[in-house]
Order: sequence, then C-alpha cells, then structure tokens
Amino acid sequence: MNKIMQRSELAPSLYKYVVEAPMIARRAQPGQFVILRVHPQGERIPLTIADYDREQGTITIVFQEVGRTTRLLGALQQGEKILDLLGPLGEPTDHPQGKNAVCIGGGVGVAPVYPEAKSLHARGYQVTTIIGARTGELLFFEEEMAAVSDELYIATDDGSKGEKGFVTDVLQKLIDGGRSIDFVIAVGPIPMMKAVADLTRKYGIKTIVSLNSLMVDGTGMCGGCRVTVGGEVKFTCVDGPAFDAHLLDFDEQMRRLSMYKNLEKKQEVCD
Ligand code: FAD
Ligand code: FES
Ligand code: MG
Repeated sequence: MNKIMQRSELAPSLYKYVVEAPMIARRAQPGQFVILRVHPQGERIPLTIADYDREQGTITIVFQEVGRTTRLLGALQQGEKILDLLGPLGEPTDHPQGKNAVCIGGGVGVAPVYPEAKSLHARGYQVTTIIGARTGELLFFEEEMAAVSDELYIATDDGSKGEKGFVTDVLQKLIDGGRSIDFVIAVGPIPMMKAVADLTRKYGIKTIVSLNSLMVDGTGMCGGCRVTVGGEVKFTCVDGPAFDAHLLDFDEQMRRLSMYKNLEKKQEVCD
C-alpha cells in the first residue's frame, strides 16, 4: 500500500499525485515507469514516474482519466493509499550522442518528458523544450519545464496559448532557423510521435520516442506490449519504453492500442 502524500488537479481530469514509495524512489531513473493496482479485482496499469525525490522517499505520477482504472485512481484522496505499486520498471532512457537536445511533450506526454529534460539539464545539456496540447486549459508543467529548459516553446491546436499549431510546426521553425539539434526525445499520442519521426528523419536527427503500449504483467512474460523495431520484435516493458523512432513500426502500434476498444467501452457501460 502506498500513501498519496499530495494530490493536485492540473487540468480537467488530469491529476498529479506525490506517492510514498521509498524503494522505488531510491532506484528510479528517467524513462522508467510503475505498474499499479487500485482494486483487488482490478487490472494493473502502467504510469510513468514523472519525478522522484530520493530523500523524501516519494515518486510523482501524472495521469489522465481515460477509462475505468484511471477513474478509480482519480477518485482517491490525499492520505488514501494505492493498493500496490510495482517498479521501477523498464529501461532508463539511453540518450544519443551530442549535447543539443530537443524535448517534446504532447498532451499527457509532457509528464514522461519532464524527467528527461530535468536529467539532461542537470548534466549540462542544452535543452530546448516544446510542449503542446489541444488547448491552453490542458497544458501543465509549464513552470516545471521552464526551470529545466534553456528555452521553452508552447504550441496549442487552437492558439489559446503559445503558438497556434502543432509541436512539429515549432520544431520545423527551429530547424529552418538553423538550430543545431543532436537528438530529439518526443512523448505523446502516437500520431504526434509519428509526425515528429517523419520530420526528423528528413534531416537525419536521431529521435527517441516513449511508447504507451498495452501492458499486462510488465515483466516480459505475456507479450502484450510487443512492438516491431527495425524488423525485430521487442517488448515495451523490458526493452523500452523508449525506442529509436526511425526504426519503429508506428502503424502496428496504432492498431494494437485500439485492440480492446470495444471491451473497454463495454466496461464503461457496465459501470
Ligand atoms: P481503459 O478504458 O481501460 O483504456 C483506455 C486506453 O488506455 C486504451 O484504449 C489503451 O490505449 C490504454 N490502455 C488500457 N489498458 C492499458 C494497459 N493495461 N496498459 C497500457 N495502456 C492501456 N497514462 C497517463 O495518463 N500518464 C502516464 O504517465 C502514463 N504512462 C504510461 C507509461 C507506459 C510505459 C505505458 C505503457 C502507458 C502509460 N500511460 C500513461 C497510459 C495508461 O497506462 C493508460 O491510460 C491506462 O492504462 C488506461 O486505463 P483505464 O482503465 O483508465 O482506461
Ligand atoms: Fe507483458 Fe510486456 S507487458 S510482456
Ligand atoms: Mg482499463
């Protein structure tokens, strides 16, 4: 059982919890995630470790209510406990060569990109960050991101905050302006990550993306999270979640993510 020490609502249906988890906090690295359960008969869901404090013995998770389990989690209050929390899982992100990094986060993907930017910034990298959302109301971590970035750009689809357009529009402008970029780390919805990969491929800029594949056990046993990378089958839970975006089969990922849509809808109806 892991106690929720702090609970805040960052945007409608988007929560940040600081959770007591000293063993996980001690070993967590950027790119890793936890798998948690909220209900004894419930499923286990993966969430990124968005931050950790080794001294306080806490980790931070940021999640969007999208279905049954995230809604059960969102109903918990400060001081209540999460049933169980397993982690840190997955491989820490392996950063490519070079000192000029661009970190891109779209939607709830801003949370997984934050520890990457924080770690790169602390190690002396030049960090340019681009965060995007459909509308300004859904943006979060602007101050946190600004604190760990040399430059921060914001893009919203409706132009209500920052530049009107997509994160790829901002990236294209940086490239057109002659910005030196050694690598890009992008996390967000699959279409966004695919668009970033298509853009950077043209310029030969190494790109890493972090996948939110469907997971069951999170230990490499069930094969539920498989992906194809450079023609080889990999498991997101143990080989990822970060992969080379230029080798990844995004279309397969898109198909696999919607595999259980009908069952998930049915579950909503039953609730
Ligand atoms: P459901 O109605 O069951 O599903 C809604 C959608 O969520 C599905 O269509 C599917 O795309 C996805 N999903 C459902 N079950 C799973 C599962 N067992 N594993 C993975 N995806 C699933 N979300 C966040 O909001 N914040 C995060 O930091 C975050 N980090 C993630 C890190 C990793 C490594 C992975 C694999 C996923 C991450 N996700 C994150 C996605 C999160 O796990 C899903 O939103 C959650 O499982 C949805 O569960 P649900 O029952 O509320 O919704
Ligand atoms: Fe089962 Fe990755 S979740 S192999
Ligand atoms: Mg579910």
